[in-house]
Amino acid sequence: MTNEITSNSIKELEVNHKNFSSACTVLISLYDSTIRKIVNSSVNACLAPLCSIDGKHVITIEGIGSSHNPHPVQERIALLHGSQCGFCTPGIVMSLYALLRNNPEPSKKEIEECFDGNLCRCTGYRPILDAAKTFASVSKSISCENEIGDEKRVDSNGCDGNNTQEKTSQNKGCGRENCCQLNNRFEDFVIFDEFPKYKLKRYDPSQELIFPPSLINRVPKPLFFIGRKTKWFRPINLDQLLDLKRVYPNAKLVSGNTEIGIETKFKKLKYPIQIYVGEVKALQSCEFGDNGLTIGANITLSKFQQVLQDACKRYKSHQTQVFQAILSNLRWFAGNQIRNVATPAGNIVTGSPISDLNPIFLATNTLFTLTSSSSSATTDSNNNKNRRVIPSESFWIGYRKTILTEQEILEQIFVPCSAENEFVSAYKQAKRRDDDIAIVNAGLRVVLDKEHFVQDISLAFGGMGGVTLRATQAESFVKGRKWGDEKVLQNLLETILQELQLNFSAPGGMASYRRSLVAGFIYKFWHDIGTKIGLYTNKNSSCIIEELTEIIEREISQGVQSFGRPEDGKNHVGESIPHASALKQVTGEAVYLDDIPKAHGELYGTLLLSQEPHAKILSIDACEALAQPGVRGFFSAKDVPGENKWGPIFHDEEVFASTEVYCVGQIIGLIVADTQTLAQEAVRLVKVEYERLSYILTIEEAIDKQSFFSMDRQIVRGDVDNAFKEADYIFEGSSRIGGQEHFYLETQASLVIPKPEDHEFEVHASTQHLTETQIVLSSVLGIRANKVVCRVKRLGGGFGGKETRSVPLTAALAVGAWHLNRPIRCMLDRDEDMVISGQRHPALGRWRIGMSKDGKIKGLDLDIYTNGGWSSDLSSAVLDRAITHADNCYYIANMRIRGKICKTNIHSNTAFRGFGGPQGMMIMENIINEVADSMGISVDTLREINLYKEGQKTHYNQLLTDWHLPQLYQQLKQTSDFEKRRHQVDSYNASHKWRKRGLAFVPTKFGLSYTALHLNQAGALVHVYLDGSVLVSHGGVEMGQGLHTKLLQIAAETLSVPLDQIHIMETSTTTVANMSATAASVSSDINGYAVADACQKLAERLRPYREKTQNATFKEICQAAYFDRVNLSANGFYKTPDIGYSFEKNEGQMFYYFTMGAAVTEIELDLLTGDHTILRTDLCMDIGRSLNYAIDIGQIEGGFVQGVGWCTIEESLFFPNGQLFTRGPGNYKIPGFRDIPQDFRVSTYQGTQYPHLKTIHSSKGVGEPPLFLGSSVFFAIRDAIKAGRQVNFNKYHNQYGYLVQANSINEIVTLSSPATPERIRMACIDHISKAALVSRKEGEKPWNLMA
Ligand SMILES: Cc1cc2nc3c(=O)[nH]c(=O)nc-3n(C[C@H](O)[C@H](O)[C@H](O)COP(=O)(O)OP(=O)(O)OC[C@H]3O[C@@H](n4cnc5c(N)ncnc54)[C@H](O)[C@@H]3O)c2cc1C
Ligand code: FES
Repeated sequence: MTNEITSNSIKELEVNHKNFSSACTVLISLYDSTIRKIVNSSVNACLAPLCSIDGKHVITIEGIGSSHNPHPVQERIALLHGSQCGFCTPGIVMSLYALLRNNPEPSKKEIEECFDGNLCRCTGYRPILDAAKTFASVSKSISCENEIGDEKRVDSNGCDGNNTQEKTSQNKGCGRENCCQLNNRFEDFVIFDEFPKYKLKRYDPSQELIFPPSLINRVPKPLFFIGRKTKWFRPINLDQLLDLKRVYPNAKLVSGNTEIGIETKFKKLKYPIQIYVGEVKALQSCEFGDNGLTIGANITLSKFQQVLQDACKRYKSHQTQVFQAILSNLRWFAGNQIRNVATPAGNIVTGSPISDLNPIFLATNTLFTLTSSSSSATTDSNNNKNRRVIPSESFWIGYRKTILTEQEILEQIFVPCSAENEFVSAYKQAKRRDDDIAIVNAGLRVVLDKEHFVQDISLAFGGMGGVTLRATQAESFVKGRKWGDEKVLQNLLETILQELQLNFSAPGGMASYRRSLVAGFIYKFWHDIGTKIGLYTNKNSSCIIEELTEIIEREISQGVQSFGRPEDGKNHVGESIPHASALKQVTGEAVYLDDIPKAHGELYGTLLLSQEPHAKILSIDACEALAQPGVRGFFSAKDVPGENKWGPIFHDEEVFASTEVYCVGQIIGLIVADTQTLAQEAVRLVKVEYERLSYILTIEEAIDKQSFFSMDRQIVRGDVDNAFKEADYIFEGSSRIGGQEHFYLETQASLVIPKPEDHEFEVHASTQHLTETQIVLSSVLGIRANKVVCRVKRLGGGFGGKETRSVPLTAALAVGAWHLNRPIRCMLDRDEDMVISGQRHPALGRWRIGMSKDGKIKGLDLDIYTNGGWSSDLSSAVLDRAITHADNCYYIANMRIRGKICKTNIHSNTAFRGFGGPQGMMIMENIINEVADSMGISVDTLREINLYKEGQKTHYNQLLTDWHLPQLYQQLKQTSDFEKRRHQVDSYNASHKWRKRGLAFVPTKFGLSYTALHLNQAGALVHVYLDGSVLVSHGGVEMGQGLHTKLLQIAAETLSVPLDQIHIMETSTTTVANMSATAASVSSDINGYAVADACQKLAERLRPYREKTQNATFKEICQAAYFDRVNLSANGFYKTPDIGYSFEKNEGQMFYYFTMGAAVTEIELDLLTGDHTILRTDLCMDIGRSLNYAIDIGQIEGGFVQGVGWCTIEESLFFPNGQLFTRGPGNYKIPGFRDIPQDFRVSTYQGTQYPHLKTIHSSKGVGEPPLFLGSSVFFAIRDAIKAGRQVNFNKYHNQYGYLVQANSINEIVTLSSPATPERIRMACIDHISKAALVSRKEGEKPWNLMA
C-alpha cells in the first residue's frame, strides 16, 4: 500500500484481520520530522483505522517476499519448521521483520522480545525462536556458551560454543557466522551440516524496500472523511484540534485506537464523530526540565520508553526513581504492536481501574495539563487556549470517569524527578507475565529522612476497586514511623488489609488473592527500599531480600532436539523435510477459508445466539432487523427444509433452537445481509423474549441435582472390595480440572454455495470432519449426500474443536443459502467462537485407594465426572478415553472406574487434543502425588514401584507389548540428571525463603485408535498424469500437523517418485467418501496406509514398464503405461486390524498400540505472587520410526506447550448467570513466547525394535500423546508449593519475629488445575495469604466460576 487513501469510508485497515492474536501484524513506517528519522513499527492491522495511515508506509507479509523468492526472514521460519498451521505466521514474520528494519543486528534478547504480543497455538515457539535467532548479531552475543549456575547450557541448535563438541543428530547452528556447528562461513548461504542441508539466504539490510521519498517531504494536511455512520477528522495542530472539540464536544479523540478499537468491536459502542490526534505534533513533544519531564500526552508508549531511558541517562540517578518505575511497568505493558501505537493519554483518560500507568502517576504527584479552547476553569490562559494543570489524584473521579470537561483534552503530562531520599517502585501481577492486563498493580513511593523515618508516602493500587486508589489509612499509619522496624511492617500489612477490603463476590473475583498481592507488594517494597538504604547487610538476609525484591527473570530460551534418522534404504520416509506449505504460509500465499475470493452474489451470515443458559423461547421478533437496508433474511427453526435435529453420536441438538434454549451461545437464528457489518448490526436488533428456567453450570451442581447424560461407563478389573480389605492404608481425595479453550487461531468459518442446478451445494468449511458436515447438511436440507460436496484446503488449527462443533455454523448458513439461493459466508469473531464452540471437558475425580506398606497399589475405586454441557456431542467417547487412561502408566490389579457425564447448561464440550485422556491421567498423577505425600515416601519411588512392565495388562485387559516406558524412564532419569538435580532443588529450597524450586517427573502412555471401531478406516485416491505428476487425495485434513507432508513422503517412497512431482490439492468428499474425522492422532496411520495402498497398486501396474525401460523417467514410464491402456488411477483403503473392544465384557483390544513418553520439569516459584517460570524441561517420547522427525518434534513441542497452558494459565470461567467470562484473548491466556521452558530438551527414544508394531513404516501417532506431559509443570509447581509449606518459616522465624509459624506444614497439597498464579499463591499458605483470606458469607455468589 502506498500513502494515498482513496476510500472515503471509515473502516479498518483490512489487512489480514486475524482476531487479536497479532497474526495481523504489519509494518508501518513513518518519517519523524522531529528526529529526522524513519521509524518502523509493528502494528496490529485489525486495530489500525485505515484513515490513520495516511502519510505512512505500510508493508504487509505479501510485500516482502513470495514463495519463489522469500525474504530471509520468511525463508528461515519456513525451512527451520517455524510454521505449522501457518495462521499466526504472517504476524510472526512481520514482527521479526520490523525488528530487523530498525535493528539489523539484534541481540538474542531483542529477538525474543520482538515477539511480545504474538501468539502461536501450534509450534510451542521453539522453532520460531531458533529461526529468528539465526539473525542474532555475533558481536552482541558473548559466545555460544552460556553458563547458568554450574550447568553448561547448550544452544537450541546444539551449539555449546565448543568447537570440539560431539555431534548429535540434530538441527545445527545458532546462526552466528563463526558458529561451531557450521562447516561453512555465513557468506552466500548457511549449510546446516547434518540435518537437512539447507541453503539459507544471507540477510542484507541494504536490499530492503525503501521508504517512499515522497513521504519524507510530505506536508501534512488536515483531513476529513465522512463514512456511513461516522465522521473522521484529522487536525494537524493543537488549535485545529481544540476548535473541533469546541464545535463537537461529544467527539471522541482517537489516538492509538487500542482502547476505542476494543470498545467499538466488542462492546459495540458507537462514536459517530472521531478526531484523530496522531498528527498533532504538540501532543508528541518531549521536554527535559529541571524538575522533571514534560511529555505530549499522545506520544506512543514505545517512544515514552525511549524518552524515559534517555531521561535516566540525563538526570542524576536519585532523580530517576519515577522514570525507572514507569519503565519497569511499561516492560510488561501489552505487546510491541500495542506499545507502538498506544499512548499515555489513552491509558489515563480511559481511567481503567487496572491501568498499568495510573498507579505510578497517582503515587508520584504527576501533573496533567488539561487544555481547551474555551474552558471557564482557566488557571493559565494563552494563545486562546485555556489550560489547567491538575495533580493526578484529582483526575479520576469514578469508574472510568475523569474530570475532563467535554471540550477539554489532555495535552501534557509532567513526570517529576524524585528527590534525594525518595524511592519509587512499581509492581504488577497478571495471569501471564507478558502481554496481559494486571490482576493487581501498584505504584509505591516513600520519602525517608536520614534516620529512615517516613516523611511522606503514597501507596497506590490498581485492581482493588472501581478506580486506581490510594491506601490513605495505611499511608497515615506509616508516616513518621521507622522504615526497617519489622513491627511497623507487620502493622502496616494489617492496616492495609483492613483498609483494602474486598468481599467474596467483588467484581473481578479473586478477592483473597488480590488482597494477598497488595500485602505481597508492600512486603516486597519494604525490603526493596530497605536494601537501598542499607538495612540488610548480613549474607542470609541479603539472599532473602534478593528473592523478595527481584521479579522472576527468564533467561533467553534455548534447547536441544535429539532425534532419529531415516532407516537405511528409505529415500523419503523419515526425512525431516519442512512442512509442504511452509513457504506459502510464511509469505501469506496460503489460502484459508476466509481468503477464498468472494463468490458471485455472496452474502454474509451472522448467528443469533441465546443469551440465557436455560429458557423457553416465547417469541422472536426480527422485524426491525429485516427493515435495515442490505439485510436479506432471517432464518430460524421453522425455516429448516429438512431435519432440524443433528448430533455426531446421538441426535440431541437442534440446528436452530425451536422452543427452548439450553445454554448461552446456542444458535437461535441466522441474519443474512450484504456485508458482515450489516449482518452484525442487524442481529443485535432481533428481539427474543425468554421465560427463564433453572439451570446448572458446574459439575458439583450437576452431581447435587443428579443431572447426567444416560451414558455411564464402568470398567472393573479384579476384586476392589477385597483389595481394600487387604490394604495397609486407604486414602481418599478428589481432583478437579478445568476446561480448556481450543484457541485455534483461525476461528470457525464456512462458505456455503448453492449451485444453480439440481439443488447441489458446494461447501467450504473449516472443519476436521467433512463427512459429518456433508451428512448433516444433506439431512438439514432434505437432499441426498451426493448433492453436497464439502472441501477444505487447510485449517488454521483445529485441535479437536473443529471435529463436530464446526457443523452447526455450516448447517445454519446452509439453511439461509437454501432460501436465498445465494452463497453465504461467515467467519466467527473470536468471542462468538469461544461462546459457541465448546471446550475441553472440565473433570472431577473422586477416589479411594488402597496401598500396601511397601508402596504397591492394591486397589483403586475411582469416579470420574466430566462436564458435557448441554448436548451429548462426543462426550461419551471423551469419557471412554478418560476412564481408559486413568491408569496412566501404573499397574493396578484391582480397579473400578465409573464415569458419568454431567448434563449442564454451558456450551457443549467436545473433542480437544487428548480427548479425555489427559483428564484421566491428571487424576491418576494427582493420586500418586497425594498418596506419596500421605505415606511420606518420594513420589518418584512410588511411581517406580507401580510402573507397568512389559507383558502386564491394563485395566481394560490390553496386553502391553513393545512397552518401552521403563527403559525410556530410566534413560530420561539419567540424561536429565534427575537425582542430582533433585538434591540441587532441595538444597536451593532449604536456603531460599520466598523463592522455591520444584522438580517433577511425569510419564505418559496414550492409546492409538478411535475407541469407536468403525471409525478406524480410511480411503485415498491417487492419479498419475501423463507428465509424470501425481495427485494424491486422502481423507485427512491438514490443520498444521504436517499430515499432507507425511503422506507426500509415503507416496514418494511407495512410487519411487521425487517429492516435487507429487501434490495434494485439498480434502474433498468428491475424491474420498465416508471419511472419519481427522482426529485421535491416527490420521497418518490410517490415511498413510490408504495412500500407500493406492500407490502400491499403481507401482505394481507400472512395474513392467519400469523394468522394461531401465533408464526411463517416470514421465516416460507413465506414458508407456498409458498407451498400453493401463489404469493410472487407483484408490486405496485401510482398516485397522486386530482391534475391537467390548466395554460390557471388558474384552478385546481397545488400542492398536501405545505412544509413550516422559518429561522432567523444573520450575521456580515466587511464593509471594504465585508467579513462576519453567527453568528446564527434558522430554523423551517413543514415537516409533517417525515419518518425519522434524514435524513430529514440532508436534511434541507444540503439544507440550498446549498442555502447559491447560494446567497453568488457561482458565475457562463463567459468570454465575451462565455467560462465558473468558471469551477472548483479553482474559483467556494461552502460553506466549516466554512461557515455554527456558531450557527445552526434546528427544525421541532410539535404538529399539518394534516386533509388534504394525503401523505404516513403524511410525506412531504423535499429535495428542505429548500434551499430558505439560502437566510436569503443574507437578513441579506442586513440588515447589510443598517446599514452601514445609521449609518456609522454620528457618527464619527468629530473625523475623513477626512471622507466624505455618501450621499447615503437614497438610497435603491439593491443587486444582489449572495452577494459576491465584491458586498457587493461595496454596502457599503463609501469614500473608491467611491474613488476606476473604471468607464467603451467606448468600454470596462467586463473581465467576469454573464449570
Ligand atoms: C491487546 C491489548 C493489550 C493491552 N494491554 C494493556 C496493559 O498491559 N496495561 C494497560 O494499562 N492497558 C492495556 N491495554 C489498554 C490500552 O492499550 C491502553 O489503555 C492504551 O494506553 C490506550 O491508548 P490509545 O492511544 O490506544 O487510546 P485510544 O483507544 O486511542 O483512546 C482511549 C481513550 O482516550 C481518549 N484520549 C486519547 N487521547 C486523548 C487526549 N489527548 N485527551 C483526551 N482524551 C484522549 C480517547 O478519546 C479514548 O476515550 C491493552 C489494550 C489491548 C488492545
Ligand atoms: S503455526 Fe502458529 S498458530 Fe498454527
